[in-house]
Amino acid sequence: MNGAGRPFGPWQTRFATPGEAILIQASLHSVQPALRRRLCLGALALGLGVTGALAAPPVGAQGLPDFTELVEKVGPAVVGIRTTERTRGAIVVHYGGFISPELPAFVERMHRSGRFVIEDAAHAPGAELNGKMAGGLSDAGCFSFYPTKIMTTGEGGMMVTSRADIAGTVRSLQHRGRDMDNPLESYVVPGRNNRFTEIAAAMGLSQLRCLPQFLAARRRVAAIYDDLLLKSEVFLPLLANGESRPSYWRYVVMPTLKVDRNELQARLREDKISIDWAYDPPLHLQPVFKTTLGTREGMLPKSEAILSRHICLPVHAQMRDIDCEYVVERLLHHVKEMANLTPQTQ
Ligand SMILES: Cc1ncc(COP(=O)(O)O)c(C=O)c1O
Repeated sequence: MNGAGRPFGPWQTRFATPGEAILIQASLHSVQPALRRRLCLGALALGLGVTGALAAPPVGAQGLPDFTELVEKVGPAVVGIRTTERTRGAIVVHYGGFISPELPAFVERMHRSGRFVIEDAAHAPGAELNGKMAGGLSDAGCFSFYPTKIMTTGEGGMMVTSRADIAGTVRSLQHRGRDMDNPLESYVVPGRNNRFTEIAAAMGLSQLRCLPQFLAARRRVAAIYDDLLLKSEVFLPLLANGESRPSYWRYVVMPTLKVDRNELQARLREDKISIDWAYDPPLHLQPVFKTTLGTREGMLPKSEAILSRHICLPVHAQMRDIDCEYVVERLLHHVKEMANLTPQTQ
């Protein structure tokens, strides 16, 4: 099995990905070692950086995240990163399971200037761009298998990488900083036990077998939503372009009317429909970054505007076609009713 640090081979077999796939006790920990390798950044709680506002934070020379403004649109146009001379690399979040079509060009630019890119693919197991799997488009990709995600192992996550140096470091940090090439028990860097359990790995194998069905079901839900919402003109769905196959961890829409999200959420709750939105407050406005980095509201106006307006509709592998139709029918009903009650200034 895969708990004790051997590569998670079935992932690579299923997805024909090169390199290694390594299971780690917590997905955030899977990001941290990749960064440590390049940055010597010690104990930076980069997990926080990763969970991210839609803006992926490039990482400065001291291992501190810089937050980066979105370019124009959410999702498929998300990669527009301001790098400075302090930037050593970037973490790109595949929000909702969407991979930006601009990612390959971005990775190439970053590599040309000696920088790295890590994909935070927490939402994106099985998502694809140009036939390549999420996690395999950069130096390393990190997945979350938390119960709310596309597939689960209860807790924990996985890093995939084709880079032997990163894989070696991750394996070492999985084992409290052990020198994995030394037959003796020799510890060379500070670390802790990040090993995945065999039981969780067994659950992962079973979930991996179901992943194609999970993805197909989510894509079916998204296709129904796309169809109905595009006709509505009240919401702009985040659409997959030709080469992109999102995993649809979230189905993201932007209202074209001014909508009070909280009121809409309360109304839909009465219909037993749950909508939500991510990153409220956005990452850069979390107290930890406001106090440690001096970030403030208004710093990333486009990101803040998008985050404050977007809405995520329910997506689940067990939703039936009539459930999707019901969601859209109730959604449009409430939004139109609310619009009639409020003069629109937007
Ligand atoms: C984009 C993103 N990255 C990382 C994480 C963290 O995953 P985990 O809780 O499994 O460590 C999350 C959690 O939801 C997330 O949304």
